[in-house]
Amino acid sequence: MSDTRKIIIDTDPGQDDAVAILLALGSPEHLDVLGITVVAGNVPLALTERNARIVCELAGKTDVPVYAGCDRPLRQKLVTAEHVHGKTGLDGPQLPDPQMQLSDGHAVDFIIETLRKEDTGTVTLCPLGPLTNIATAFEKAPDIVDRVQQIVLMGGAYFEVGNITPAAEFNIYVDPEAADIVFKSGADIVVLPLDVTHKALTTAPRVQAFRDMGTDVGRMTAEWTDFFERFDKEKYGSAGAPLHDPCVIAYLLQPDLFSGRHINVEIETKSDLTRGMTVADWWRVTDRAPNALFIGDVDADGFFALITERLSRL
Ligand code: BDR
Ligand code: CA
Repeated sequence: MSDTRKIIIDTDPGQDDAVAILLALGSPEHLDVLGITVVAGNVPLALTERNARIVCELAGKTDVPVYAGCDRPLRQKLVTAEHVHGKTGLDGPQLPDPQMQLSDGHAVDFIIETLRKEDTGTVTLCPLGPLTNIATAFEKAPDIVDRVQQIVLMGGAYFEVGNITPAAEFNIYVDPEAADIVFKSGADIVVLPLDVTHKALTTAPRVQAFRDMGTDVGRMTAEWTDFFERFDKEKYGSAGAPLHDPCVIAYLLQPDLFSGRHINVEIETKSDLTRGMTVADWWRVTDRAPNALFIGDVDADGFFALITERLSRL
């Protein structure tokens, strides 16, 4: 198991978060999911923590601990995205009530304790929602920052600019102060922004491949996709919807599917107009030091083939 990478998935499920979790849980020879930490984002915390447990049960992996974390951003009111994900956050298929219990303790403490317990540089954080839990952990225990192997996160945009405001992507917009703390932390950061997720669209044949698995996981994934793609199809006039969060897990499994640039990324926290914008120096026009690998491209067919293969194991 020495090639197995230890990860903590920090998430606000969300249909695309759910597919990301399934992709990780379907890849045990590559990824050891130490825990799932949940944050408020797409829907309030009471729903995101419930949804995380539903997804673990669907995958048959009830031994993965799920911890509830922060129920609101550091300094502002929670903004949610029911208009994309539906009232529950996982609208689409009929879902059972989860039987699996939440783990005791706060997600932030789990992140801190895990990073202190495991060898330095062996735990990767995978944020798929607002960065509130991660920033809170870094503020509470600054010693853990140097112990993080890598942060591979979904958030931000440069070429695609914004999806929740004209200037900002949802995960960063919900908690820009938290994002600012994380991007300034000095940790090794990989960013999967809208620029890349908008190139990974759920076209009809790709969704049919999920359905053709003939399993509950395949059917649910297809029904989730059917539900949330209506929003992006209407908005962008695209053939399907971007499967944002699975890009994070796919990057860990097969980094050669992706390409990007090592650049400086700063978070706008002050302006009313552009709050939550990721000011990415893609063209390297400043002398600000690079602090992130900002991904810009993906082999979309390879990405969907990977998801289909891994989900079909569950
Ligand atoms: C991000 O926002 C959420 O709606 C999705 O789950 C994804 O993490 C995309 O902007
Ligand atoms: Ca998410």
